[in-house]
Amino acid sequence: MTTTEVPPVVPSAGTAAVSADLTGHNIHAEKILILDFGSQYTQLIARRVREVGVYCEIRAFNLDEATVREFNPRGIILSGGPESVTQDDTLRAPEYLFNLGVPVLGICYGMQTMALQLGGRVEASSKREFGYARVEVNSPSNLLQDIHDERDADNTYLDVWMSHGDKVAQLPPGFQGVASTSTTEFAAMADDTRHFYGLQFHPEVNHTLQGVAIMTRFIKTICGCQGLWTPANIVEDIITDVRLRVGDRKVILGLSGGVDSSVVAALLSRAIGDQLTCVFVDNGLLRNEEGEQVMNMLGQGSENVFKLNIIKVDAADLFLGKLAGVADPEQKRKIIGNTFIEVFDAQAKAIEDVDFLAQGTIYPDVIESAGNKDGKAHVIKSHHNVGGLPDYMQLALIEPLRELFKDEVRKIGLELGLTKEMVFRHPFPGPGLGVRILGPVSKPFADLLREADAIFIEELRAANLYEKVSQAFAVFLPVKSVGVVGDARRYEYVIALRAVETIDFMTARWAHLPYDFLEKVSGRIINEISGISRVTYDISSKPPATIEWE
Ligand code: XMP
Repeated sequence: MTTTEVPPVVPSAGTAAVSADLTGHNIHAEKILILDFGSQYTQLIARRVREVGVYCEIRAFNLDEATVREFNPRGIILSGGPESVTQDDTLRAPEYLFNLGVPVLGICYGMQTMALQLGGRVEASSKREFGYARVEVNSPSNLLQDIHDERDADNTYLDVWMSHGDKVAQLPPGFQGVASTSTTEFAAMADDTRHFYGLQFHPEVNHTLQGVAIMTRFIKTICGCQGLWTPANIVEDIITDVRLRVGDRKVILGLSGGVDSSVVAALLSRAIGDQLTCVFVDNGLLRNEEGEQVMNMLGQGSENVFKLNIIKVDAADLFLGKLAGVADPEQKRKIIGNTFIEVFDAQAKAIEDVDFLAQGTIYPDVIESAGNKDGKAHVIKSHHNVGGLPDYMQLALIEPLRELFKDEVRKIGLELGLTKEMVFRHPFPGPGLGVRILGPVSKPFADLLREADAIFIEELRAANLYEKVSQAFAVFLPVKSVGVVGDARRYEYVIALRAVETIDFMTARWAHLPYDFLEKVSGRIINEISGISRVTYDISSKPPATIEWE
């Protein structure tokens, strides 16, 4: 892949409706608005915009004019979507959008509805294009000029990712076609005067090699954004916000040891120091040495920089007692969630004058729970997280990560000085080992699982494979299988190893770990853990399987 410098082709579009209020590090001074037509890639568009260094939000495709004006975007992106603009009653962009004087980039469905609404024609293509396509850039436009993959004689080719049935058959007045493929005459269209652009392909996916260059061109050169959304600026901004809001009052935080709550803890410790109290609950379903790791990294230990007030509650017996004999996974999740609330609530009451509850809610949670109610929702499975607390606690919420994607949370974690190991930790579900011990949970089962999981993770790290897989863990199967030790046969339990590669955890491929590696892990688990006689490797992808076993 070759990368391309993005020269300034035009001065900033000078968007009339937008005030130039860039002051200091006001990270929200320049914003891109993404209107969602239901594409599975919409969140990816937002992540790319953020990577370019500009704040953006995803909102429903039919957002009203007053809200858009108040949001005051430097540019608007119309996402792709699953429908066909050739059908009546499918989604359209609000008409006022094209009169705001703000640059607009339509991607796939977004391009098609833009073409149709501005006076062009879209038709169903006889050939669906899906996957890689080679686009020829055949006319200069501010969006694509000098962006190309290969230094061929004409500098004209782009390898892109296509996924469409319909195509623009006739351009709207004012537009020129600027790129084409063998089957799609208008793979890109541009109106450089009004700063309206359409791409039939997806610049937001990695397969489009120059996707980032194209997004950067739109956001920086055409919309005139500088790129204020950087980890250091974000940290500074959040700290200022929290200080203003909290003053000299007290905040409580449920620390789980996961990335999100640890980053919240680190941020709040920088913002308000010992006005923060963290509660870490050992529910008996944590991974090996998890409690110690959290205390060492964030607690009062001599080495670390954070020195947080952490109340560590040992509630393993309480949780395991309530879970005894319960086999149904959803029932187990409920018991674990409710018991957490009970324990946390008791701790919160014991601290005097707490006014705020801090939570590690991140932007995808916000989009899932609210953003798309009025638009075309993505169907995203939401989990019942252990951190959700009941209304009666009557604490005001502080959610410093509400605007951030996971990759941004990680960057901020590093910026704050959390270790790489902590920041790039695989996700661990709220109910912990409770959903990795199939059927009823017990302490002996949890102990066996913890040991096996620790060996698997240790070997993954040693083989430099940990960061190559998205999530890896061991699962305890409460069935007995025969093994031979010396001359004796023994019937003992089975451990399944699970490792997946995924971008969004909605779909996942089982990781093709090397046989030698699996052999080593299996050998260590069976030899070192008395009580396990067999190890299996899970080769199911999601869908139809899920990542967890329960
Ligand atoms: P599944 O098993 O649904 O998992 O493919 C997708 C992602 O969600 C995590 N997961 C959970 N997280 N509470 C959580 O906080 C839960 O009950 C829960 N169940 C699954 C899972 O580890 C994976 O990352």
